[in-house]
Amino acid sequence: MNKKEAHDRIEQLKKEVNDHNYNYYVLNKPQISDFQYDLILKELADLEEKFPDLRSDDSPTRRVGSDLTREFRQLKHKYPMLSLSNTYSEEEIYDFNKRVTGALGREVEYVCELKYDGASISLTYRDGLLESAVTRGDGETGDDVTNNVRTIRSIPLRLRNYDYPAELTVRGEIFLPLEGFRRLNEELVKNGEQAFSNPRNTAAGTIKLQDPAIVAGRPLDCYIYNILGETLPHNKHYDNLQKAREWGFRVPREVSPCKGMPEVMDYINHWDSKRKSLPFEIDGVVIKVNSIDDQEKLGYTARSPRWAIAYKFKAEQAKTKLHSVDFQVGRTGTVTPVANLEPVALAGTVVKRATLHNEAQIKLLNLHMNDTVFIEKGGEIIPKIVGVDINERANDAKPVEFIASCPECGSPLRKLPGEANHYCPNNYECPPQIKGRIEHFISRKAMDIDGLGEETTDLLYRSGLVNDIADLYTLKKEFLVDLERLGEKSAFNIINSIEKSKSAPFNRVLYALGIRFVGETVAKLLASQFSSIDELARAGYDDLVSIPDIGEKIADSILNYFSSPNNRKVIERLRKYGVNMELRESQKKESAILEGKSIVISGEFTRHGRKEYRQIIEENGGKNVSSVSSNTSFILAGKNMGPVKRERAEKLGIEIMGEDDFLKMLNKE
Ligand code: IVH
Repeated sequence: MNKKEAHDRIEQLKKEVNDHNYNYYVLNKPQISDFQYDLILKELADLEEKFPDLRSDDSPTRRVGSDLTREFRQLKHKYPMLSLSNTYSEEEIYDFNKRVTGALGREVEYVCELKYDGASISLTYRDGLLESAVTRGDGETGDDVTNNVRTIRSIPLRLRNYDYPAELTVRGEIFLPLEGFRRLNEELVKNGEQAFSNPRNTAAGTIKLQDPAIVAGRPLDCYIYNILGETLPHNKHYDNLQKAREWGFRVPREVSPCKGMPEVMDYINHWDSKRKSLPFEIDGVVIKVNSIDDQEKLGYTARSPRWAIAYKFKAEQAKTKLHSVDFQVGRTGTVTPVANLEPVALAGTVVKRATLHNEAQIKLLNLHMNDTVFIEKGGEIIPKIVGVDINERANDAKPVEFIASCPECGSPLRKLPGEANHYCPNNYECPPQIKGRIEHFISRKAMDIDGLGEETTDLLYRSGLVNDIADLYTLKKEFLVDLERLGEKSAFNIINSIEKSKSAPFNRVLYALGIRFVGETVAKLLASQFSSIDELARAGYDDLVSIPDIGEKIADSILNYFSSPNNRKVIERLRKYGVNMELRESQKKESAILEGKSIVISGEFTRHGRKEYRQIIEENGGKNVSSVSSNTSFILAGKNMGPVKRERAEKLGIEIMGEDDFLKMLNKE
């Protein structure tokens, strides 16, 4: 390559990396895999090394990406937050060892850790109290997300044991465990909202939300990987991590000191094959020099420490053939393309289908019928197509076209400017939308109507008995008994359950209406701001967006919902049939006495049931949590309190309060 060619290629690579940085750090929507990104960055770094005078100060190889956003206060990091140099090759790990041992003139001990895949955070403690939690930002300055981080239970607000330095900086990774991610997405899909693409983006996005209450509802976790301070307890990184555990941080047991390269390689190989057994995602292994003195001797480049390197795993991929593309219509009318594939084994399951998200994704892949495609399974539940092998494409292959009309009802599809999805506008006649709305309305977290499964709903719809959610309240036992497969007893139970649903609390009704983008959490938020459906229906755009975490998209969707005469009619009918359309007196907050308190309930009670106590806690601003941790404020204990909880509470010095004292505290005597 001559200099001119190198110059052009460098300029092109710089632009690509900058674009991908923006997609990744700012939008949290990476368009390519980490592997592909690292390849581009590496090509750029290699070219710059070969042609040093072509390296410019604005090259992305000279800085780490930035996640700075405008909404948060910015705080400067006391110690810059660097990134790690990384590699996909074992050979480069040996090179790293050579550099380290060469510089120090002797063999060293390493510590191997998993490379947790989330968002990095820097926590500062002063006199044992959490003072600030700051994102990486551009490495020098980050966003102050302290209020969000306070909701993460595995991050201590106060350190334990009193042998901590007066000022301490602790770095770690905030992530979403796989089970929590799965549950969160299940909810979103059920609400007609778009599922998050992977746990990493979800964790990074959540930590930047404006409302800590929503953050608190997402089961984030945090693992610590670095301790910084003027006076550290030990000279070994490993020992400092163990100390951090004593102070109350979560430090995974998988961290392991490794004597020499054979042990390092064993660690890498072990976790490359076993990583799927972990309940959280990792994207590699980090190898660090154990001695802090040695770390200081080795020092830093502008971007990363010379005493550490990350070995990254390749995402598991499989190659298969695309047979056809289906277009599915969801309850809110969103049309999702789904690829039907030649079945292929990938990461322990056989994959037959993969999501294609939307038209833009099909275009990005330049997908053609019968293409040979690469599929990948990250943290996503559904695998996705990440690339096409164009060498295997037939000459006459036709590009995959997005459909123009709804596959279910034939209506011309629409796409709003700025939105990625096509949708079918025929909300009131398109069968999957009608059935989807009814199914959502009766679901457990909505109106919780028992006995009406998907099949019965379909039956009720096909027989013409139920065409919208309000029709459910016109059902009579006799109608149901006449339907095929429904006996007297089931019919009775259904009618009973429908009757009971009339007293569901207002926030559940709001959620049940199935307004686009109004999931359970947003419904709760709205119910805390508007005490009746009429008040909400009267709210304007400005009223809505002034609520933290209600953005333009949600506001527009709410306004759009109430502007439809059809929806207003349904609401009026629901009201007429007795469905609760306002906040009950009992749901309004009674006091803020328990504001900020996390309370565990344990044992048997005499004056109220457990469910009532849970409600009392919420009505007085507190939070009911299930397990005892150092963040627990106190335990509301009845007779025969769980022995494990008691032991933990006593060990952590957490107060155990009886029900009489609890009620006295709330002036409920
Ligand atoms: S050590 C000075 N250890 O990977 C570098 N980082 O590019 C300190 N990460 O932003 C990083 N697991 O968020 C370290 N066990 C681990 C890690 C880890 C994940 C993340 C971290 C950092 C990125 C490095």
